[in-house]
Amino acid sequence: MVEIAEVQRGLEDVVALESRICFIDGKQGRLIYQGYDIRDLAARSTFEEVAYLLWYGRLPTASQLTDLKTRFGALRSLPHQVCQQLDQLPAEASPMDVLRTTVSALALYEPDETRPGASSIGGAQRLTAVLPTILGEFHRRRRGLPALTPRPELSQAAYLLYAILNREPTELEAKAMDVALILHADHELNASTFAARVTASTLSDLYSAVTSAIGTLKGPLHGGANERVMQLLDEIGSVGRVEEIVHGKLVRHERVMGFGHRVYKVEDPRATILRDWSRRIGEAAGNLHYYELLRKVEEVVHREKGLYPNVDLYSGSVYSLFGIPPDLFTPIFASSRVAGWTAHVLEEYQDLRLIRPTAKYVGQVDLPYVPVAQRS
Ligand code: ACO
Repeated sequence: MVEIAEVQRGLEDVVALESRICFIDGKQGRLIYQGYDIRDLAARSTFEEVAYLLWYGRLPTASQLTDLKTRFGALRSLPHQVCQQLDQLPAEASPMDVLRTTVSALALYEPDETRPGASSIGGAQRLTAVLPTILGEFHRRRRGLPALTPRPELSQAAYLLYAILNREPTELEAKAMDVALILHADHELNASTFAARVTASTLSDLYSAVTSAIGTLKGPLHGGANERVMQLLDEIGSVGRVEEIVHGKLVRHERVMGFGHRVYKVEDPRATILRDWSRRIGEAAGNLHYYELLRKVEEVVHREKGLYPNVDLYSGSVYSLFGIPPDLFTPIFASSRVAGWTAHVLEEYQDLRLIRPTAKYVGQVDLPYVPVAQRS
């Protein structure tokens, strides 16, 4: 039989391609988008600037930024056929399933400029602009809230909050959401981005690639962890119960969501920034319940397993204080990561090589074929 090199389970440490978009230094705890440190971007830029940076490889000038904001505002509406499909979806459906299904359906009705197969930034902008609308339209239908208007004057962060909450976000809320969107916008070859690039590497279209990515992000070991963190906090209930519950999980070898990372061996810099925002939003709301629980959970997990928090630990505590239901946390993640997915898909189209690894076959060979009537 043909000799196969050592298996790298989970493709760990396998370098699959070259990319200019994102760099993670897992030992130093650094994250870089197109040359810029995430801490600078979170402190000083906006999600719109970051999306532009990911797609074009440079920060926008003032007029380029204005143009992009105008385009986002103009690209927020859904075709009526897609709205009709949303009317038919069960109210109890998972919002990630709704997002995946609706992005796939959207591809059927797009005008020429953004239609599937167009390997253009137009498609990337359209998908980034419209994901909050899909979430808002579904959420408003299931809660019986008024229909959504595109509100082109709002930033993506403020629009996302408005779409879900059906109220104007405060300046602080919009800023916190903007920072969260910046922090989630890209992360090198994470599982969902890899899925998008695999799809694109077959020369399939942008919408198919993003549909693959949404399905991949949904899993609890990836984007789905943020929702599970809030389930854990609800189960714990009070700081006095953290030791007992978290210790019990670790003894049973259960995973504590929001901790550990394939690449970071130190604290995820996104967790550091979100921890601070969790405290700030908690103080503004006069409610530090989640923040204090999470600090204690961190202490126990680090002491017992040496694990650090990842980006998913603190995001839910911020969103919950805004009044966002937990099943929208991962779709919010997708509304940001779509900028990174599409940047990677466009990069893949520029330097295309079919992604097709090899498996080590551990099954049998040369079995004699037995006709069906003779099988026992
Ligand atoms: N809770 C408890 N134990 C953990 C955790 C955790 N969150 N993460 C890792 N470990 C333990 C594993 O049980 C394993 O222990 P063992 O050697 O005694 O069996 C050891 O640490 C190594 O874990 P691996 O699964 O080999 O590490 P890997 O790099 O494959 O996993 C992952 C990374 C999947 C993120 C993991 O840390 C995990 O499951 N975390 C919880 C889910 C989560 O928060 N996901 C979000 C990640 S960030 C993102 O995708 C946006």
